[in-house]
Amino acid sequence: ISRELTLEGIFSPENDSLPGSFFSLTPFLPVHLTGTKYSCGSGGCGACTVMVSRYDPKTKKIHHYPVTACLVPICSLHGAAVTTVEGVGSIKTRIHPVQERLAKCHGTQCGFCSPGMVMSIYTLLRNHPEPTPEQITEALGGNLCRCTGYRPIVESGKTFCAESTVCQMKGSGKCCMDQEEKSFTSRQEKVNEFQPFDPTQEPIFPPELIRMAEDPNKRRLTFRGKRTTWITPVNLNDLLELKTSFPEAPIIMGNTAVGPSIKFRDEFHPVFISPLGLQELYFVDSTDDGVTIGAGYSLAQLNDALHFIVSEQPKEKTKTYHALLKHLRTLAGAQIRNMAVCSLVSYEIRLCQSSFRDGFGTMRIVLTAAQSFSLIEGKRQIPLDGRFLEKSPEANLKSEETVLSVYIPHSTQWHFVSGLRIAQRQENAFAIVNAGMSVKFEDGTDTIKELQMFYGSVGPTVVSASKTCQQLIGRKWNDQMLSDACRLVLDEIYIPPDAEGGMVEYRRTLIISLLFKFYLKVRRGLNKMDPHKFPDIPEKFVSALEDFPIETPQGIQMFQCVDPHQPPQDPVGHPVMHQSAIKHTTGEAVFVDDMPPISQELFLAVVTSTRAHAKIILIDTSAALALPGVVDVITAEDVPGDNSYQGEIFYAQNEVICVGQIVCTVAADTYAHAKEAAKKVRIVYEDLEPRIITIEQALEHNSFLSAEKKIEQGDVEQAFKYVDQIIEGKVHVEGQEHFYMETQTILAIPQEEDKEMVCTYVTLGTYLFQEYVAAALNIPRNRIACHTKRAGGAFGGKVSKPALLGAVSAVAAKKTGRPIRFILERGDDMLITAGRHPLLGKYKIGFMNNGVIKAADIEYYINGGCSPDESELVMEFMVLRSENAYYIPNFRCRGRPCKTNLPSNTAFRGFGFPQGIVVGEAYITAVASQCDLTPEQVKEINMYKRTSRTAHKQTFNPEPLRRCWKECLEKSSFSARKLAAEEFNKKNYWKKRGLAAVPMKFTVGMPTAFYNQAAALVHIYLDGSVLVSHSGCELGQGLHTKMIQVASRELNIPESYIHLSETNTTTVSNATFTAGSMGADINGKAVQNACQILKARLEPVIRKNPRGTWEVWISEAYKESISLSTTGYFKGYQTNMDWKKGEGNAFPYFVYGASCSEVEVDCLTGAHKLLRTDIFMDAAFSINPAVDIGQIEGAFVQGMGFYTIEELKYSPEGVLYSRGPDDYKIPTVTEIPEEFNVTLVHSQNPIAIYSSKGLGEAGMFLGSSVLFAIYDAMAAARRERGLTKTFTLSSPATPELIRMTCVDQFTDMVSILAWRIPWTETSKLQSIGSQRVRHD
Ligand SMILES: Cc1cc2nc3c(=O)[nH]c(=O)nc-3n(C[C@H](O)[C@H](O)[C@H](O)COP(=O)(O)OP(=O)(O)OC[C@H]3O[C@@H](n4cnc5c(N)ncnc54)[C@H](O)[C@@H]3O)c2cc1C
Ligand code: FES
Ligand code: FES
Repeated sequence: ISRELTLEGIFSPENDSLPGSFFSLTPFLPVHLTGTKYSCGSGGCGACTVMVSRYDPKTKKIHHYPVTACLVPICSLHGAAVTTVEGVGSIKTRIHPVQERLAKCHGTQCGFCSPGMVMSIYTLLRNHPEPTPEQITEALGGNLCRCTGYRPIVESGKTFCAESTVCQMKGSGKCCMDQEEKSFTSRQEKVNEFQPFDPTQEPIFPPELIRMAEDPNKRRLTFRGKRTTWITPVNLNDLLELKTSFPEAPIIMGNTAVGPSIKFRDEFHPVFISPLGLQELYFVDSTDDGVTIGAGYSLAQLNDALHFIVSEQPKEKTKTYHALLKHLRTLAGAQIRNMAVCSLVSYEIRLCQSSFRDGFGTMRIVLTAAQSFSLIEGKRQIPLDGRFLEKSPEANLKSEETVLSVYIPHSTQWHFVSGLRIAQRQENAFAIVNAGMSVKFEDGTDTIKELQMFYGSVGPTVVSASKTCQQLIGRKWNDQMLSDACRLVLDEIYIPPDAEGGMVEYRRTLIISLLFKFYLKVRRGLNKMDPHKFPDIPEKFVSALEDFPIETPQGIQMFQCVDPHQPPQDPVGHPVMHQSAIKHTTGEAVFVDDMPPISQELFLAVVTSTRAHAKIILIDTSAALALPGVVDVITAEDVPGDNSYQGEIFYAQNEVICVGQIVCTVAADTYAHAKEAAKKVRIVYEDLEPRIITIEQALEHNSFLSAEKKIEQGDVEQAFKYVDQIIEGKVHVEGQEHFYMETQTILAIPQEEDKEMVCTYVTLGTYLFQEYVAAALNIPRNRIACHTKRAGGAFGGKVSKPALLGAVSAVAAKKTGRPIRFILERGDDMLITAGRHPLLGKYKIGFMNNGVIKAADIEYYINGGCSPDESELVMEFMVLRSENAYYIPNFRCRGRPCKTNLPSNTAFRGFGFPQGIVVGEAYITAVASQCDLTPEQVKEINMYKRTSRTAHKQTFNPEPLRRCWKECLEKSSFSARKLAAEEFNKKNYWKKRGLAAVPMKFTVGMPTAFYNQAAALVHIYLDGSVLVSHSGCELGQGLHTKMIQVASRELNIPESYIHLSETNTTTVSNATFTAGSMGADINGKAVQNACQILKARLEPVIRKNPRGTWEVWISEAYKESISLSTTGYFKGYQTNMDWKKGEGNAFPYFVYGASCSEVEVDCLTGAHKLLRTDIFMDAAFSINPAVDIGQIEGAFVQGMGFYTIEELKYSPEGVLYSRGPDDYKIPTVTEIPEEFNVTLVHSQNPIAIYSSKGLGEAGMFLGSSVLFAIYDAMAAARRERGLTKTFTLSSPATPELIRMTCVDQFTDMVSILAWRIPWTETSKLQSIGSQRVRHD
């Protein structure tokens, strides 16, 4: 069963006691198979990917395809074989080449996404043993990774391609490092050290399933649960009979539409009909006129069928199929495309039944009809035309009918078809607007005979612009027609100001921009057919025709060589694989939720506030308590100690101060029971004033979380008097969700004796957790044992929030006296734990006409949310780092965190730097524009040049900064590429290229000295094995791996002797948080200290027997009663900061870097493509270049997402709308730079261990080079259109912002609508102040 999970016998009606339990394979996976991860539950992240294999008795072939286990109904798997990551390979048996290569290519950091990645690549290999690089990228499109930045994952996949472009020695520790500075890719001539891949060795498909599939006496299959019944018909007649008997029962195919409705919208159906696998629904019939596709075909199968048809038919007949194929490539991810049946059918039908936003549906124009069948009325054709959309009764599908097939006609000579689509990211995202358009001309002319235009996401269902089309019949295809068409279609398709999804002005602009694209495509097509009769489009418009291609990313990583005299055993400086990498890829790495059930354990579900600021009048728990399995409801009344600790409230008491605040929790025997009961808790509120949501509102109400923080040098006011020019501006930088793949998870186990509590959880800091739990329970900290082994990503989001949630669960454990398992669902996690602080930055800059900045006055306001959390500290960091790489003699920066009624924002990688520095780069860009210089010239002019003092009077030497900057510009050929981009821009009106380079001076460590301390405990056992513990937490950043390298060097023993199990409060007490990029610095020193103490103790023994072995020395030391255990300690960097004076040596050292990015922007849609990024990072001497490059790449991609596509959406009432991967888009494999080069620059840093530097966060800000490159491209577009040079800069540069900034005739046609609308997110409200999307 651990290899292939056949489902006969596993299903039990008892499992169906609650709605939704049929609707996922995940809960049915045997408890010991924990490799398949659960992260979003909505099919959107790919962490739960498994391979399903089915035998097709018609073709006698086995079909392997990837699915997301969280959406696969258990009953739909009858007769299928399911392979989970455990079935692919394991450490206990044999690891599979996919697992090995992902690990060795450093494609795993926290490892939570890794089993899903393995399954996606593995399934691809089962179908294509030698895939192309494009197939690898396509297979990974549905898998999210928040740590790595994808490049190494793609590279691991590419090793299976026929012509691998990846160094085969990667991860072997033998390549690249023993040479002079070389890239990984230059080492291909080395012997292949990966295990060979032999596809013939894969497990066979279970023969009993073949027998089952071929059984001629198959019968209808019924699974009966307590509340629902699942019926699989045996043939078409049976299906029709069932549909007659249960007309309201949904037909379940891929379950990618019904499943989420049941899970997240509480839809309930007593009966489901599942004809999956019914032979009559699986066919392709090709005739001279068109092709009929069976309704059972998945989108992936449709894709294959269309590719075949395209290869067979003449080009003119296949225009429709090409349009469909283009659409199919970007719709959802590979898993969903393999599950969902040709949405051409199911999606259309669903549109008629309910409302939904996106649409493959707009492609209906290519289908003339769907064929449906009902027992009563027999077979009929349903034309998929305007009447179908208008739901006229005769054109709509009746509830008792079943769709059998859809028909797609061939295109003809004078016929043009296009599918157009724009989404927040290129792949795996619902469209913001999509369109399907088709025109037929009178033969040999450009006179319109038939015209159809359908739009998706502009209303509750797909909308046909039928009146517009009607009025254009008989018109010539020319500019006048286009102009009339735009006017008509804008009149016809009305998007009300309060439309769901907002972005009204943008969506209206897209309606005509997409029409324009179609217009150009058709004109080009006509010209190709008769160049004499039909003039071509202007050469400058040609690039508007094509969407950005999806390319397979590639890159070069350059790093140091170790000293050739370094002993071979010493791993320091080598690109050692992550300590847990293989366990990650085999799924054997244990995360908290993988821990086996504990006797008597209860599950916790939260009830959160639905009001931003309100008095609690009543909490009625009676209905919840009456439900089966419910043990208790826990409220503020049950907290034995402090319910409010350091300003953080565990359970809301008397009033609520944000939407998402925990009011109570429900403890029950299963999570499903707890969740169901949580819905039944009734809370009565009375709204309170004021309700403060935005920074502007907080400023109006003078609502702050702490006092102002300020640094100042020179005389700012005086300097403004003597400058040539002064500019003032505002910059908005929106917030960011951590989106760690493993949500917050806690296991709290009360002990029998002495009020002890054992907690296992994911965190960045054990002492804070212990402190909060102790406060809530009112017991000493020595009774609370906290364990953390690994976190599935954290990025700052697991510093304070686990402590708060720990207190909440410990109170529940205390009250019930039973172990509590508390796992936040993705939606709750996003709602409750908040993320990066949004920023409003104001600046006043005085400068000379030659670009020299003389004076800067900066103000920062961040949205801290409803409680202190880390907001004050974030503001301190932001102010201290505000000058970045520039010397401005008269500089003042002030900042305050605002108190609002939003969930409390918290630490996030970069700790304020990524937001704050955008303000600096924004004014540099504005100064450049005023002085007719490039931003890079102004940066160069104002950059620190020699040993200097920062604005807070800390001395530093900027030499590595200047080196990174210089190398970045030179080695990326910045100037030449900038010229080339300008040339490109001259030749292309609708696509623009932009380049930007940003320098960085980042800080490591904390201004408060005691936060920089660390401790370690090292035991040597009598067999010579060593156990290391320290105060840092492993979050995927490779901290434990580096600590093993340190211990290995110090003790002079191989890494294999050293083990590092977990971080806990019983071995190392009072551990500060693993943050500030200093985890390896400070813990490394503590481990080094412990090892050196032990080494010194062993010295006499070694001297006595210099030829002895490690094992012998240990044995002898023991016999001489030498202690083989010790603690190690690092007092910490002696930093200080005096905020009264605004001075201090706030940081132990600085990290420098620079990055350069090039983008191409589609001015008509707002989409952008990241063509290339070069990063130069001052790593001093990297302890582990693979780990450090992984951190840089991962942080860069996270930063890039922050500055471009990640957008949190709040209502004006403070309700967070974006609560999952559907609504919040982090980068996928298609967003990363097509060419991604990283160089680690050498320097000296004697203060840190082995002269290394902490690089965990620094890469984040370098992602802003993408933001500024986009601005460069937008500026080029605006210049060409004769618009003013400067325009407001804000982040993120979403497709909406890009499109609306590239002002043209289409944006002008769209009237500016009121922005204060119910669906308007906070960001937009804030933007009103800064005129974020207004044009000059
Ligand atoms: C992560 C994710 C990403 C997605 N991305 C996109 C996207 O980018 N664009 C997009 O358009 N959609 C997207 N979707 C939606 C989804 O792919 C489509 O809704 C898909 O068409 C549903 O197909 P299904 O087979 O899973 O439908 P199911 O959920 O199985 O059924 C859907 C409905 O169709 C009816 N039905 C199905 N077959 C028949 C039949 N033969 N006769 C009568 N009724 C029938 C069912 O009764 C049911 O009401 C996404 C979904 C997920 C989970
Ligand atoms: S957990 Fe299944 S796709 Fe995210
Ligand atoms: S390694 Fe991919 S999410 Fe952490």
